Amino acid sequence: MRYPTTPLPSFKIFREKCGDTYQLFTGPKGWSLVSERADIIDHILRINNKNYNKSPIVSELLARYIGQGLLTIDGEFWRKQRKLIQPGFSRERLANLVNSIDEEAKNWVNALPRNEAVNIYDTTLPLAMQIMAKVLFTDKISAEQLHTIAYSVELGQLQFAKDLRQPLLSFWRKLTNTRAAAHAETKKAVDILLTQIQHHRDHPKKYTDLLQMLIDARYADGSKMPDAQLIDEVLVLILAGHETTAITLACTLHLLAQHPEWQTKVREEWQQVIGDGPIEAGSLRQLPVLTAVINEGLRLYPPAYLVSRIAIGDDEVGGVKIRAGQMIILNIYGAHRNEINFDTPATFDPSRYLDRRTTTNFAFGAGSRMCVGYHLAMMELQITIGRLLAATTSVKTQQTSLEFSASATLRPVGGVWMRLQNDDKTLKHSL
Ligand code: HEM
Repeated sequence: MRYPTTPLPSFKIFREKCGDTYQLFTGPKGWSLVSERADIIDHILRINNKNYNKSPIVSELLARYIGQGLLTIDGEFWRKQRKLIQPGFSRERLANLVNSIDEEAKNWVNALPRNEAVNIYDTTLPLAMQIMAKVLFTDKISAEQLHTIAYSVELGQLQFAKDLRQPLLSFWRKLTNTRAAAHAETKKAVDILLTQIQHHRDHPKKYTDLLQMLIDARYADGSKMPDAQLIDEVLVLILAGHETTAITLACTLHLLAQHPEWQTKVREEWQQVIGDGPIEAGSLRQLPVLTAVINEGLRLYPPAYLVSRIAIGDDEVGGVKIRAGQMIILNIYGAHRNEINFDTPATFDPSRYLDRRTTTNFAFGAGSRMCVGYHLAMMELQITIGRLLAATTSVKTQQTSLEFSASATLRPVGGVWMRLQNDDKTLKHSL
């Protein structure tokens, strides 16, 4: 009864009592299999992924508020959409966006206060949304319009979280029409997106952004994506892409603030590879230390901390039997902190990825349904963390741990506090 409202502490208790793989009663659909074993997660997400669909938590509940986009659909429909959308997220295609992301990163770093406590999570959310707007729409969107879209996605997510936490009250919410507010906001967001689509269609040569790519893309039979589908896909990209990146940025900076020795290593690498000048897309591939730090941040704080599936047919993995129709909850947060999968799992140690002692990391999922925005997210994280560290001499924190709320993502509550300093007068690269 308690786990939907306090997932992290509840799953910790379950593991202590039942081990790393067990059955959990999850309501009308009966018993779900929960696991934090890396071999089971890998089997379900990658090796035998054909036997698993998205669970109804995503394909029905989340889709009710966010629509039928890549994240929430399955089968042939998903395959067709993924084929169309994936090329837009390739490294080559994203190379065009490096300068736009860098510009936003610099504005963010410049606006951050120095030598006083700042709740960095309050700043990474608008930053990630702003970057998403640039990536999707170039600059054709006002702050107010952006706010309307962000608010609509947020309301949809809140309703989703409520339905997930208190399914029995779902009927009451329907009766009292609390969902109407979320639907009204979605309508406003849809109108803004329709205007964006029209503007892009009228001036196709002006844009190289993701929306233009989606508008120009054609299915195998030469047909284009219908507007309603285009809108669902854009809303899903905003939902899946902006909060996850904002959380990772804030949590990784928290870890760096606790480990000054890794700040120094990242600063040195950045100075050597990029320095003060513009960023070449190719140079982002020459940042092994920063990349390992981000991977370690994602290991300790994976924003998509639970991934769920439903089995199509019977299956067996590592001695565990799975029934057709059974729900499966993969506890990514638990797996990333379990000593069966990692040495000293609670320790922040990016060198485990640097010297390839491990490559295990499920923060972006795995297999064919692995995050389509992986390269974009990594690029955003590299540029924002790199620029922030390059413009400061130290980032400090007295916060020893982070608190999270129960939501679709691992949302920090009470803030992610730190203090940025650049009291070194010899620092040349003011941004
Ligand atoms: C640190 C940032 C991010 C993390 C940790 C993350 C995590 C994930 C995970 C775990 C999945 C797989 C879910 C599953 O298998 O059920 C996923 C899928 C997805 N992500 Fe991300 N994501 C991030 C950033 C982004 C960005 C920037 C975008 C796009 C702008 C994006 C768009 C998507 C989409 C559309 C899917 C569904 C893909 C499919 O099913 O084909 N994500 N993400």
